[in-house]
Amino acid sequence: MSAIKNGLFLSLEGVDGAGKSTHIPFIETHLQRLGIEVVVTREPGGTVLGETLRELLLHKDMDIRTETLLMFAARNEHIKQVIEPALVQGKWILCDRFSDASFAYQGGGRELGATAIETLEQWVHPDLQPDQTWLFDLPLEIATQRLQNSRVLDRFEQEQAAFFVRTQQFYHQRAQQDPHRFSLVDSSQPIHTIQQQLQQQLHHLVELWQSR
Ligand code: TMP
Repeated sequence: MSAIKNGLFLSLEGVDGAGKSTHIPFIETHLQRLGIEVVVTREPGGTVLGETLRELLLHKDMDIRTETLLMFAARNEHIKQVIEPALVQGKWILCDRFSDASFAYQGGGRELGATAIETLEQWVHPDLQPDQTWLFDLPLEIATQRLQNSRVLDRFEQEQAAFFVRTQQFYHQRAQQDPHRFSLVDSSQPIHTIQQQLQQQLHHLVELWQSR
């Protein structure tokens, strides 16, 4: 944990259709019941500028480098305006995606590779990483099926199966490289089973945090 942090930084990751967004309100409410002040936010987005960049990123065609730079531009604003100030005040951040998504989607899905993302990560947030990252994981056929039942698809959601295979592979690699930070959630399980797992982990995190 970096020196500036008093709060805790939690993130949720997974391919589109993995179901992470379903669990954010549950985590938020549970933490509030445990007396934690939580800021729920997302990437790309989380600031006025970031939400404008999100619209472009999700709906306008662009070169892969432009896409990657815009993801990190939005992230830089988000860190400076929202994440760091909240952590300094002792609040917890619950973030729907962070830089692991750039590794998985741009590095893996778009085949940019990890090196360019590592360079940007070092530049934008050399001392900041989530304390805990849940990787919502499930067979890609189920994720695709869930997407097909959903609203109009954005640029990423419209990608072909091979894109998501690479994205998921990069997520798995990233999780293997940092097993203490990552926790895998089998999101093909029933919602209440997932919530039990999350609840146990949240109690553990709060206990650790309170005993620091
Ligand atoms: P969401 O639908 O989970 O809110 O995420 C928006 C899309 O943006 C999702 O398809 C993943 C993608 N994305 C990236 O490609 N790179 C990133 O760094 C982030 C944060 C999201």
